[in-house]
Amino acid sequence: MGIEILPDLRVSIGSFQLKNPVMTASGTFGYGEEFASLVDLHRLGAVIVKGISHEPRAGNMPPRIVETSCGMLNAIGLENVGFEGFVKEKLPYLRNKKVPVIVNILGDSIEEYCILAEKLNDIEGVSALEINISCPNVKKGGVAFGTDPDMAEAVTSGVRKRCTLPVIVKLSPNVTDITVIAKAVVSGGCDAISLVNTLLGMAIDIHTRKPKLANIVGGLSGPAIKPVALRMVWQVAQAVKVPVIGIGGITTAADAIEFMIAGATAIQVGTANFINPGVSEEILDGIATYLNEKGLTSVQELIGSLEI
Ligand SMILES: Cc1cc2nc3c(=O)[nH]c(=O)nc-3n(C[C@H](O)[C@H](O)[C@H](O)COP(=O)(O)O)c2cc1C
Repeated sequence: MGIEILPDLRVSIGSFQLKNPVMTASGTFGYGEEFASLVDLHRLGAVIVKGISHEPRAGNMPPRIVETSCGMLNAIGLENVGFEGFVKEKLPYLRNKKVPVIVNILGDSIEEYCILAEKLNDIEGVSALEINISCPNVKKGGVAFGTDPDMAEAVTSGVRKRCTLPVIVKLSPNVTDITVIAKAVVSGGCDAISLVNTLLGMAIDIHTRKPKLANIVGGLSGPAIKPVALRMVWQVAQAVKVPVIGIGGITTAADAIEFMIAGATAIQVGTANFINPGVSEEILDGIATYLNEKGLTSVQELIGSLEI
């Protein structure tokens, strides 16, 4: 009987090494604990927690979620427990599970992002920061920073100066040329770029003629956005030298592999968690199986291997 050689799944995001490229996307996996009875958290490359702000936020009025064909619209509005609540009530659990934790941060001003970064830098068990400059569901901050290259660069460099943790910047797809924003955040000193956040969309109830979301518009996610996200990952991977993390409609190992072939060093699984909480582990197993079947010994051989 032949000896099966396990493929090497390790990838690096700047100085941060992951045991495999499969992470859970912010806002779709709570603070990890909610999914722990269904997923072996320790197997994941990292858990990216729900975005946190300095103070707790209540988010938008309901209805905040609408199912669409091939995806969902959400206008949660960044409801979260705030910095103190996260550190005291949420982080200890994940620290115990020994899974790397990436904290997704958001703010109304550059200074709020910087203060959060500085505070999180000293907290044990935080492996990296993901700066969310791409939320379409809030009035201040959020996507306003992610669609203006100067603001995107300024937030990134502000955070970079105030912490030593690896800094990932999460971009919005709601722009004309994603490479302009990507280059701006690289100039600001980020270690990696994750993309995409949700695409701005809306849904209408034809009987009441009212918007289905109280917020009127929301962020579209799920399989519907995968081709857009894949295209942007491919464009950005060619335009910058920092690692790119692919997000958008990843539901199967094949989806994840597509993103890696397009140039993603790692991937995040979002909306698919709501349908099948065990999907990240299945994707991880599927990547390993694919590598074995193709006779590849390392996931590195996949990254950016697109043939044109
Ligand atoms: C309900 C919900 C909440 C989200 N909350 C956040 C958040 O707090 N911070 C963030 O950066 N992205 C947030 N996102 C965006 C996801 O992390 C992800 O970028 C997006 O859903 C696209 O991936 P998907 O198609 O796999 O879901 C949220 C998405 C959903 C559906």
